[in-house]
Amino acid sequence: MRHVLLAWLFCIAAAVGTLGSKVPAGKTPKGFATTKGRSFYVDGKPFYFVGANSYWLPLLTLQDDIHATFKEMRASGIKVLRTWGFNAINATELPFAHESGLTYYQVWDNGEWKLNDGPQGLKRLDNVIETAGKYGIKVILAFTNNWVGYGGSELYVNHIAGAGATHDAFYSDPRIVASYQRYVKAIVNRYKKSANVFAWELMNEARCLGDLRGGPACAPGTDLISHWYKGQAAFVRKLDPYHLITTGGEGHFYKRDEDIGYWLDGQWISDYNYNGQAGEDFDLDLTLDDIDFGTYHIYPQFWYGTTLDKPDRDNFTISDWGLQWIKDHAESAKKANKPVILEEFGVMGLQNKTEIYPKWVQTALDTDHSILPWQFGMLGLKEKDGQRYFKYEDRLIDGASPNDSFTIYKNQTAVWSVFTNAAKVQAAKSR
Ligand SMILES: *[C@@H]1O[C@H](CO)[C@@H](O)[C@H](O)[C@H]1NC(C)=O
Ligand SMILES: *[C@@H]1O[C@H](CO)[C@@H](O)[C@H](O)[C@H]1NC(C)=O
Ligand SMILES: *[C@@H]1O[C@H](CO)[C@@H](O)[C@H](O)[C@H]1NC(C)=O
Ligand SMILES: *[C@@H]1O[C@H](CO)[C@@H](O)[C@H](O)[C@H]1NC(C)=O
Ligand SMILES: *[C@@H]1O[C@H](CO)[C@@H](O)[C@H](O)[C@H]1NC(C)=O
Repeated sequence: MRHVLLAWLFCIAAAVGTLGSKVPAGKTPKGFATTKGRSFYVDGKPFYFVGANSYWLPLLTLQDDIHATFKEMRASGIKVLRTWGFNAINATELPFAHESGLTYYQVWDNGEWKLNDGPQGLKRLDNVIETAGKYGIKVILAFTNNWVGYGGSELYVNHIAGAGATHDAFYSDPRIVASYQRYVKAIVNRYKKSANVFAWELMNEARCLGDLRGGPACAPGTDLISHWYKGQAAFVRKLDPYHLITTGGEGHFYKRDEDIGYWLDGQWISDYNYNGQAGEDFDLDLTLDDIDFGTYHIYPQFWYGTTLDKPDRDNFTISDWGLQWIKDHAESAKKANKPVILEEFGVMGLQNKTEIYPKWVQTALDTDHSILPWQFGMLGLKEKDGQRYFKYEDRLIDGASPNDSFTIYKNQTAVWSVFTNAAKVQAAKSR
């Protein structure tokens, strides 16, 4: 008996090994994205894209503005929108939300959250996803945020683990994981039949540190985030076998055998982006069965802010650093034989953008990555005469969508055309 059982187990393991945990290609519903090797496919054709990041689209209330934005995206050749599939508030914010019309999907109160699937809640996301489809655009939806912005992981930690809990509790506390999964289930079940969804994303920019301080469970060698990715991706796959799943991470490496770093003021600095301290292990995470493709971000001005313009940092430029980061992720993609996308990137300053983006974009396209700059800007929005306050620093000013100084608007023609030209290159490869 025992041997028979083992033989059976071996057969199952072998079958799972060849198919991965993926569904046989023939069964994928029409219009859904799939992967093969390092490429995406839709309905049998390769799919390379330029995408748009816009967390603010589901915050708009005027359907004309939503149409105008998608129309502009389509005219620019954009095929994928990435937006937040979360928008959570504390119950203390309810009066403000009702007065201002703020979009919210979850309300946290007393250690628990309630879903808002009404007109000021998920109905708005329904509308964005449905309208996207009318413009031939597919959507990447992230389930939560590493950061406080729009009610991410910190609300789970504060409300469930309590004041004083550290950010690592998000990945390790079973009550928090269950609560996150309850939300994921609500979102996935709501949209799992939609061909307008390109992929699910487990978390925007998962790190050991959040806006709350880190904690001991998340440190290099614990692989806490890799385990979390593995568990959550398997959970999503069970709910929805067909849509693609990705991490949403910044693409930090954990080069276990090398100390990658640099000299600064006569001191050796071990590089946070390569030494595992951030919490991700890009190479490992990309090999996980239910992670269909990898994501990475580029913000060298934030990541190396204090080290910029130091003369003894060996010829460091933010432009060259980004090029190397792109090449490093291309190497990982090759090893894992999965697609990788440059999912967010930005530099501040129009001159910097004009000089640097053409180089980054060219290299990313040459290495077959699809790209989504941070972030899409829209002018001429009409809601509240173009003057609306959302939350934090985010507002419409004279009809311009929120400007975080990374935002790219159409009237910045040199930068804008980098992306419209890239979209043409991607379209030509997608035949
Ligand atoms: C949420 O509201 C509670 C009071 O109900 C407060 O103690 C807590 O600090 C708030 N949390 C966040 C993250 O805003
Ligand atoms: C910096 O650049 C100069 C000029 O290109 C070169 O001679 C020098 O070797 C470089 N230094 C380092 C540390 O790479
Ligand atoms: C352009 O980038 C350089 C190097 O990071 C920085 O010193 C400068 O302030 C940036 N320009 C703007 C306008 O942000
Ligand atoms: C956005 O902000 C940047 C600097 O923070 C500024 O240079 C630019 O003019 C602003 N754009 C718009 C459309 O407001
Ligand atoms: C683009 O338009 C915005 C809003 O009308 C304006 O603030 C900004 O100065 C314009 N930028 C350029 C480069 O014309």
